[in-house]
Amino acid sequence: MSCTILVVDDHKAINEIITLYLGLMGDYNILTANSGNEAINIFVEEANVDLVISDFNMPDGTGADLYNFVKTHSPEIPFIIQSAEPLEFIDDLKKFTEQENEFYIQKPFTYEQFETAVMKVLSKDSTEKKYVKIMIPTLRNHPKVGVDTYVKLADDKFVKLRHAEDEFDEQSLRVFDKRGIKFFYIKQADVQAFLSNCQKNLLDQLSSPDLSADEMSKIRFDTYENLMSAIQYLGVDENILKQADQFTKAITKSIPKKSELVGLINKMRSGESYLSRLSLLTGNIALAIAQKISWIEQHNYEKLLTASIFMDLYWLKDQGGQDDTSLSEITYFDSAELINYTPSIQELILVHAQRGAELFAELRADGEIFNLIGDHHERPNKRGFPKHVDCSQISSIAAVLIMAHEFSHRLIMCPKMSLSKFTNIKSNLIKEFCVGNYRPACQGFITTFK
Ligand SMILES: [Fe+2]
Repeated sequence: MSCTILVVDDHKAINEIITLYLGLMGDYNILTANSGNEAINIFVEEANVDLVISDFNMPDGTGADLYNFVKTHSPEIPFIIQSAEPLEFIDDLKKFTEQENEFYIQKPFTYEQFETAVMKVLSKDSTEKKYVKIMIPTLRNHPKVGVDTYVKLADDKFVKLRHAEDEFDEQSLRVFDKRGIKFFYIKQADVQAFLSNCQKNLLDQLSSPDLSADEMSKIRFDTYENLMSAIQYLGVDENILKQADQFTKAITKSIPKKSELVGLINKMRSGESYLSRLSLLTGNIALAIAQKISWIEQHNYEKLLTASIFMDLYWLKDQGGQDDTSLSEITYFDSAELINYTPSIQELILVHAQRGAELFAELRADGEIFNLIGDHHERPNKRGFPKHVDCSQISSIAAVLIMAHEFSHRLIMCPKMSLSKFTNIKSNLIKEFCVGNYRPACQGFITTFK
């Protein structure tokens, strides 16, 4: 038996449009009325109304009068109000939309908006439709869902997974992903709350970082102390800095005292040259990203920090720690600026990553750290060096180091930081790096510096 829908509006044209829309949507039995009181009469005479769609402003009995009558006698019947006025301006309908089978739609509306409204309220008896899917990428972007989240066990069985106040972290999402769970559910009734929450999150993100112009002006990378406080201003957790410091000391201690590398490493950690500041910043930022993507195992931290210390150590060794930041302009193997250097310096630029890896190999045999050091100038667009690997060939941990390295370089090279410059650096980096195997690193970066 087809569903009976009562359509109420004092404008005949609106009734006709709604009738037309309903006709496109399915085989419905449609009744029309031009006022609230006329609709009440039909409602009394016609016992089998399955849905009411009503205007609010009508001369003879408003939509609120009709709503109150219907809800008093048959609260289970779904009710849609359509009006030109925003719902919050209608005092008589303060409690409207509190029930799952109620929906408000503002005129003028599109067919799609109307169809969505009707489908939502008519699905009240369908357990499936009581819940709406939320895909995992959506949760990555909006980890604070703000409403209860469910998993589906069977066709009609949903169990609560997280409370509204809980937040989804990357580690748990990856566990779900591995188990083949590609989406979660929220209650249909919570959709608006969820969307409002997403909107708020987006606004928060747009206005971030929460740094005043005064604080931004304090962000400088010219000394060790300034660099350390700048990292914290930008959002890196103080505990990360402490852990990085402890790991670095342990790494330095593990090197034989007689090795010439001890002196070089101490120089690299001094903050006195561009290369040193780049190393410090890269190591700390790489750890912060790793933490956000839940790579908090000790060996990952150690690998990233060791690589950040050794990546440019050969420069220090070969060039005596010279601080020519113009060399750092060479981002790609085909950078036009290469021509400004002698052939021997050009060669040094293009091989220094490999030479740094070899310096590390003199101390320890660890293929992963060796590769990390050697890969620190690779880039997603294959224009990095020396291997020119693309975004599908790079390891996930190298992607973290590379992204931290490039971000650090751009921060250090920015003469006077401001909110707009910082936002530009971030958004350009995200554009370049959110591809292939760089995606998890990019996600960690976004979460760290949101
Ligand atoms: Fe380098």
